[in-house]
Amino acid sequence: LQPLPTHAPEAVCELDRLRADLCARIDSMFDAMLAPPEGPRARLCEAIRYAAIGGGKRLRPLLVATSSRLFGVAETSALRAGLAVECIHAHSLIHDDLPCMDDDDLRRGKPTVHRAFDEATAVLAGDALLALAFEILADPATHEDGAVRARLVAALAKAAGMDGMAGGQMIDVLAPGLVLDLEQVAELQGLKTGALLAWSVEAGAILGGASADQIASLNAYSSCLGLAFQIADDLLDRHGEEAKTGKRVGKDESAGKQTFVALLGPDRARRTALELAEEAKRHLDSFGAEADPLRAIVDFAATRDH
Ligand code: IPE
Ligand code: IPE
Ligand code: MG
Ligand code: MG
Ligand code: MG
Repeated sequence: LQPLPTHAPEAVCELDRLRADLCARIDSMFDAMLAPPEGPRARLCEAIRYAAIGGGKRLRPLLVATSSRLFGVAETSALRAGLAVECIHAHSLIHDDLPCMDDDDLRRGKPTVHRAFDEATAVLAGDALLALAFEILADPATHEDGAVRARLVAALAKAAGMDGMAGGQMIDVLAPGLVLDLEQVAELQGLKTGALLAWSVEAGAILGGASADQIASLNAYSSCLGLAFQIADDLLDRHGEEAKTGKRVGKDESAGKQTFVALLGPDRARRTALELAEEAKRHLDSFGAEADPLRAIVDFAATRDH
C-alpha cells in the first residue's frame, strides 16, 4: 500500500503491517486446508492451490479484519471469514479469465488457470472454490453461534449470486451491445465488484453483533468503496502497467466494456474515484480513530497502481 497524504501516516503503516501478516496467514490457511488427495483429483487440488495461494492484494480479507476490529471480533473468526470471501473472489477471477468471458492469459503475474491447466480444470477449480467458501463459513470454528454463521452464509450467497457478483458479470458480458448511462454502469460495477467488498465489511459487523445503524453506515461506506475500487481497476486497464497489475492491460476499450472511464474519460473518472473515497470516509464519521484503517483502505482503493 502506498502512503497517501490524506490521512494519518500511522494508519497506513498499521495497515501495511496488518496486510503483510494477513497475506501470510491466508496462504498458510489455504495450504493447510488444501492437502492434495491421491488419484486424479490431485489435479483439481493443484489448480485450486495455484489460483488461491501466493497472490493478490487480499483486500477483501483485509476489509473483514479491519471491520472486525471495530467490534472486537475474535481473530480466528475474522480470518476464516476473510478466507471464505477470498475463495469466492478467486472463483470469480478464474471464471472471469476464461475464453468465454474476458479471455485473459495473465493473472497475478502468472498464466491464468485455464492456460496453466485447461478449461475444464479451471471451471471445476472455480466451482470448488465457490463451494469451499460456504464450507468454511458453516464450520463452527468460524463462530460458535449458528445464527451468526447462517447470516454470514446467506449474505455471502446473495453477494456472490444473481443479485451480486454473478449478476454484475452477466451485465458486463452483455454491456458491449447495450447503451448504458452512468447510473446503469454504477449498478453493473456495484454488483460485479461492490457486492463482495460490501460483504467483507459487513462480515466484521455481523460477527461482532453491530447495531443496524452501524451496519447501515458501513454499507454506505462500502458502496462508495466498491465504485472507487472498480474505477481504479478500469483506469489501470487504460493506463496501468502489466508489471505492477500482474494482468493484461488495454483490453477493456477494444472489448467494448462499459466503464466509468469509457463514459467520462480518464480524468473525470479519476476525479470521481477521489470524490467517492471522500464520500466513503464521511460515512465513517460516527466511528472514531479505530476506523482509520478503513479510511486508509478506501484512499488506497481509489488511487492504487496495482
Ligand atoms: C480484481 O480484483 C477483480 C476486480 C473485482 C476488479 P483485485 O484487484 O482485488 O484482485 P487481486 O485479488 O488483488 O488479484
Ligand atoms: C471482474 O472485473 C470482476 C469480477 C467479478 C472478477 P474485471 O474483468 O475488470 O476484472 P479484471 O480486470 O479481469 O481483474
Ligand atoms: Mg471481466
Ligand atoms: Mg477481467
Ligand atoms: Mg478490469
